[in-house]
Amino acid sequence: PLIRLADYRPPAWLVETTDLTFDLHPDATRVRARIDFTRNPDGPGGPLRLDGRGLRLLRASVNGEDVTDRLTLDAEGLTLDAPLPDAFVWECETVIAPAANTALEGLYLSNGMYCTQCEAQGFRKITYYPDRPDVMAVFSVRIEAPAELGTLLSNGEPGESGPLPGGRRYACWRDPWPKPSYLFALVAGDLRAVSDAFVTASGRKVALNVWVRPGDEDRCAYALDALKRAMRWDEEKYGREYDLSVFNIVAVDDFNMGAMENKGLNIFNSKYVLASPQTATDRDYELIESIVAHEYFHNWTGNRITCRDWFQLCLKEGLTVFRDQEFTADQRSAAVKRIEDVRQLRARQFREDAGPLAHPVRPDSYREINNFYTATVYEKGAEVIRMLRLLVGEETWRKGMDLYFERHDGQACAVEDWLKVFEDVSGRDLSQFKLWYEQAGTPRLRVREEWDGRALTLTLSQRVPPTPGQPDKKPMVIPVACGFLGQSGDEIAPRRLFELTEAEQSWRIELPERPTLSLLRGFSAPVILERDADPAERAFLLAHDSDPFNRWQAGAALAADAIAAQTALRDGVPTLTPAPIAPGVVEALGKALRDETLDPAFRALILAPPSEDEIAQALFDRDGVVDPQVVHAARERWKDALTDALADDLAALRALHRPVGPYSPEAADAGRRALANGALALLARRPQGQADAAAQFAAADNMTDKLAALTALTHNGAPQADEALEAFRRQWAHDPLVMDKWRMIQATSPQPDAFARVKALSEAEDFQWRNPNRLRSLVGAFAMANPARFHAADGAPYRFYADWLLRMDKVNPQTAARMAGAFETWRRLDAGRQALARAQLQRIAAEPGLSRDLSEMVERMLDG
Ligand code: ARG
Ligand code: ZN
Repeated sequence: PLIRLADYRPPAWLVETTDLTFDLHPDATRVRARIDFTRNPDGPGGPLRLDGRGLRLLRASVNGEDVTDRLTLDAEGLTLDAPLPDAFVWECETVIAPAANTALEGLYLSNGMYCTQCEAQGFRKITYYPDRPDVMAVFSVRIEAPAELGTLLSNGEPGESGPLPGGRRYACWRDPWPKPSYLFALVAGDLRAVSDAFVTASGRKVALNVWVRPGDEDRCAYALDALKRAMRWDEEKYGREYDLSVFNIVAVDDFNMGAMENKGLNIFNSKYVLASPQTATDRDYELIESIVAHEYFHNWTGNRITCRDWFQLCLKEGLTVFRDQEFTADQRSAAVKRIEDVRQLRARQFREDAGPLAHPVRPDSYREINNFYTATVYEKGAEVIRMLRLLVGEETWRKGMDLYFERHDGQACAVEDWLKVFEDVSGRDLSQFKLWYEQAGTPRLRVREEWDGRALTLTLSQRVPPTPGQPDKKPMVIPVACGFLGQSGDEIAPRRLFELTEAEQSWRIELPERPTLSLLRGFSAPVILERDADPAERAFLLAHDSDPFNRWQAGAALAADAIAAQTALRDGVPTLTPAPIAPGVVEALGKALRDETLDPAFRALILAPPSEDEIAQALFDRDGVVDPQVVHAARERWKDALTDALADDLAALRALHRPVGPYSPEAADAGRRALANGALALLARRPQGQADAAAQFAAADNMTDKLAALTALTHNGAPQADEALEAFRRQWAHDPLVMDKWRMIQATSPQPDAFARVKALSEAEDFQWRNPNRLRSLVGAFAMANPARFHAADGAPYRFYADWLLRMDKVNPQTAARMAGAFETWRRLDAGRQALARAQLQRIAAEPGLSRDLSEMVERMLDG
């Protein structure tokens, strides 16, 4: 059934306390629940309705009186239709089977370790409950388990623990902070802690633990360090202190997402905790830092203030992503972080917004909420927060955050509550701004300039394209930050912030000379700027713009235009053109790359060509059809042009910037490695560079350099590639996370044999495909990050991928549904490929017993 935002009703019953006892057993875990219900005076009334899925109910009572025979059970829960007092105690006992739980939702086993994932609706697979975020209760938990499981964890503060007869033991936990069921967590395993302590601003001592399997202790230091920095940052930036005496992080191998912010007990995909120089890349370190911070920041934006219902997901996710972005910006380079985030936004969110899965930041209906943990809710949600801050100004922003925490602490809120806070502190009317939460689709921004000798008339116009279910759009509030550069390259007027609120608006700006505009500085709004600029203007901005984002953008646009010019429609068919790439364009980039006053990390971003997906979207806008293989070939030509023209520069950059001395994951060294390895990726298109890559592969003492060399060899089809791949496999066969990297390199290779390799690797005996990290790093990476090979004209990879989605769906619907997004661009393709993709989507849709998760995804892709 379709769940609608408009149908929201407050809960009929509230819960004061929830006491749970777990008697852990792989096939039959007993869960006893004791829940204090009170009638909600503001609720709709009605019988007691509790959510529950896949539970075996042994018995239930109300105020001690057995009611088991008076319950009506169905697939989604139970109903007790009997007269009830305004307050009563519900008790029940259920049995669940963690070992059989391959969906990784609820209580499950991962490598012999019990763990939980309850967001969004996993708690109902543990016991009967009003499993909705606006029901908040104080939880007490008692865990009983075999004594070998030495570590028994749940939320909040530890209580009593000790031995039990029969080789078992128990531990108790109590979380004093009322919380919704989705923040419940339990972990039991043979674990080791790497520990530290933190003293909060007000002097409270907090014990910090990162829990891992024996043997992984030496890979926890960075996560722990990032946690301490995040805790300090939230105090300094927002005055937010931690509120318990212990903070636990647990690394789990089988996990559907990145991590989870359970109160006081964050659970992480081990990929985002474990790191050592030999096993993790600079990128891994950066992700660990930001995800540890993200989950920690949820303690205030998510846990202390939570969501009223799941339509409000962006309230906690958009805000918390924004907060983790700002944290990374402060810890590393703000400019580089902004560019990385915008690249990611364009690659994932713009793609989503332009296709059949487009939905508003606050969706208004869903069938399966797990399908809405999307780039739109998270990343566009963060952009909306960023625009709000820009519009109200830094100082008012901070006042608003203070008021939000003060006014709504302990509550389950909606987007309206959030906006009201900012209306109150700023005196602004945010009703039009709210459209950012309600209208899907990426706005298109057009620019016209007229210069009359004394003043510039700037005309901005906007158009929001139709998206599924939203044919007509209203104009949005678009903040456009703008700089004015004179002929010398200096700023000739202060930066302006234009607020576009109508379909079209003009401003007249008096200036001493005709300016070159630096528009949408810092990417001040998540829009597509439709503006033809000549290469000379882009080169000028690349050389002079004081806004680092726009400086990078100018270079990226030069590359994108040059690549687009390599293709054209011939008889309606995308074809490569013989157009040469203008030497001036490459030289503009070369100049920036040689500029030693520029941060190496920033120059690495200038060197990286736009993604094939981004080029495809631009070509679809231009031509109405895309051939992913033509896109790939055009982009290869650009790389060839760079390599040929800049070979000496690239070699010099690599020589100059390869860090010497022991590995450090700090931003400065990581940036230099990024530049040196970016140069290597291009140099390895030629035999000399391949020899250099092979030498780097052999000598590297850290995973970043090793993987960069291996990728350069593999993706360029170097003769040394197979030997290097084999050496790497032999060295790391025992380490699943490292082997994911090995598979991913092969899956994303543009070489013609990539599909055959992916197939063979996926059929290998030792391929643990039920683990989401494993399947995603091979099959998922192939479909998402290797467009040239995934979109083979014969459709074989589509069939292969659909087979995998169906296979995974039977085991883990959530992960299958997320991976289905690889098909979301199918309508950009030519008729032949469209027919092949549609046939696979229809085959999936017709599968008997398809999960609600996957069926919603394929139906939206077919209908949208
Ligand atoms: N709240 C988590 C985070 O963003 C994501 C967990 C979502 N899990 C899920 N199964 N939908 O940090
Ligand atoms: Zn989150």
